[in-house]
Amino acid sequence: MKRVVVITGGSSGIGETTARYLSHMGDIVYSLSRTKKDIFGIHYLECDVTSIEQVRDSFIKIIGQTGKIDVVINNAGIGIGGPVENTKMESIKQIINVNMMGVFNVCKIAIPYLKISQGKIINIGSVAGELTIPFQTFYSVTKSAIMAYSEGLALELKPFGVKVTCILPGDTKTSFTKNRENEVDINKEYSVRYYKSITKMEEDEKNGMLPIAVSKVIYRTIKKKNPGVKVVVGFSYRFLLFLKRFLPERLVLYILYKMYG
Ligand SMILES: NC(=O)c1ccc[n+]([C@@H]2O[C@H](COP(=O)([O-])OP(=O)(O)OC[C@H]3O[C@@H](n4cnc5c(N)ncnc54)[C@H](OP(=O)(O)O)[C@@H]3O)[C@@H](O)[C@H]2O)c1
Repeated sequence: MKRVVVITGGSSGIGETTARYLSHMGDIVYSLSRTKKDIFGIHYLECDVTSIEQVRDSFIKIIGQTGKIDVVINNAGIGIGGPVENTKMESIKQIINVNMMGVFNVCKIAIPYLKISQGKIINIGSVAGELTIPFQTFYSVTKSAIMAYSEGLALELKPFGVKVTCILPGDTKTSFTKNRENEVDINKEYSVRYYKSITKMEEDEKNGMLPIAVSKVIYRTIKKKNPGVKVVVGFSYRFLLFLKRFLPERLVLYILYKMYG
């Protein structure tokens, strides 16, 4: 029987590539996002993940059509850039709503179905959740939270046979870079450092890996009987996070300051 996979944020970037790849590999794929994107073979449902009602309605529709859900991929996410001091409260609430509440909403609705199918939850975190990036502090906060959430959830769901994995991509070439909302540094105190930092981050993302690299890791994770809770995408990022475990914290922070501070 074909696997039924639900992915959030399937209209662009990593989500779109993954939806296409999984469908190509034989899965039945449902893509949830606010913007409709017609992709051959992919079932689209309009859904803002910040609304638990919309998430619930989407899952009821999927269950009505397929009778089961095997895998849920929490991929929808946004970025904001700017100094903490200047970031508008509205922007902070928005990133928490999408990157954290969106995941919590989807899991809350999906878990009962995944317990029946002994399925999998895949949350898309980020290397930036393990290495906090200045001027993207709130983004790092949300991704760090998703890692902690994935660990707790994995332990809670273990006796039910539901596997939870947080996948941590590094810089990936997607529309994420142009979609990131950068705050204006009104009092200009941070301007030089902030623009240098954001410019470096944008360059790294534009030269980053292709989304298919992340999709293939997601696919391998789905296929594994016992995937790890944390999976980092790409050798260089795995090496970086490995090094972080052994270097003194002061040195790690000094390097981050030199690179992005
Ligand atoms: N690109 C990178 O360098 C990178 C690195 C590490 C991790 N990531 C993570 O990878 C994930 C995908 O990012 P991407 O790079 O593929 O970015 P992207 O191209 O900007 O795609 C983001 C997706 O999220 C969806 N989305 C945003 N807000 C939503 C909402 N409220 N409800 C439903 N869907 C929503 C968007 O669809 P709509 O706007 O149509 O709703 C879009 O499909 C994110 O979680 C991101 O944090 C990205």
